[in-house]
Amino acid sequence: MKIGIIGGSGLYNIEGLTDVEEIYLETPFGKPSDAYIHGKLEGKDVYFLPRHGRGHVYLPSEVPYRANIYGFKMLGVDCIISVSAVGSMKEEIKPGDFVIVTQFFDRTKNRPSTFFGNGIVAHIPFDTPTCPLLNEIIYNACVEEGIPVHKEGTYICIEGPQFSTKAESKIYRSWGVDVIGMTNIPEAKLAREAEIPYSSVALATDYDVWKEGEEVNVEKVLETMAKNIENAKRMLKRVIKNIKPEDLENSPARTALVGAIQTKPEYI
Ligand code: ADE
Repeated sequence: MKIGIIGGSGLYNIEGLTDVEEIYLETPFGKPSDAYIHGKLEGKDVYFLPRHGRGHVYLPSEVPYRANIYGFKMLGVDCIISVSAVGSMKEEIKPGDFVIVTQFFDRTKNRPSTFFGNGIVAHIPFDTPTCPLLNEIIYNACVEEGIPVHKEGTYICIEGPQFSTKAESKIYRSWGVDVIGMTNIPEAKLAREAEIPYSSVALATDYDVWKEGEEVNVEKVLETMAKNIENAKRMLKRVIKNIKPEDLENSPARTALVGAIQTKPEYI
């Protein structure tokens, strides 16, 4: 079984991989963020990609999302687990908590977010944007590891790179979202178009700026991530150990393109 992992701010490698090799790919959408680090863990093939590149060189708007997901497709991964730092939009989601993302609200403005176009029109279902089957496995792994975890949550994706104003943060909060970040869109949309089951684990690092007396800055995000990186690594190891190929057979992602292409075959 092949498992893809995308690491965000603070998660730049996976420990315990054996037979490690670096795979550099070229895709029709350019180069991915970095080499895919391939290795074995618990008898499975793991492919790890640091979303912002080693050295953190891509802004959220600059991450080559299409190349990254296309690269995972070329590698033939069975699923993608995305890990990212987020702000919490709810009192009960405390810095250090994990949230399994089950919905998205897209506030990005400036990112290519489809593999289609240029003569091929497709509309994919995206009502269940992350894989419920993989989400369940990740949730159970967190529980087994004693990690504080919320079983579901809505992630609002902003363009960045600036954090939000207080006015924006309060308005987003009134919309009922749970966490805020800058990177899961278009990643999740592209994974769905590529028919790869995708789940996102959001690691709360701060209370954004809606909360009186709270502030958000890179130092704070990285400090909280550093404290929780061991939890993230344990969660991933447990998921990799527990997951079986047949678990994802009925993932909604696997049939995302059935009936989705509207362009008449003779025009393609
Ligand atoms: N990533 C981590 N904390 C964040 C926040 N408050 N807003 C947007 N992205 C974040």
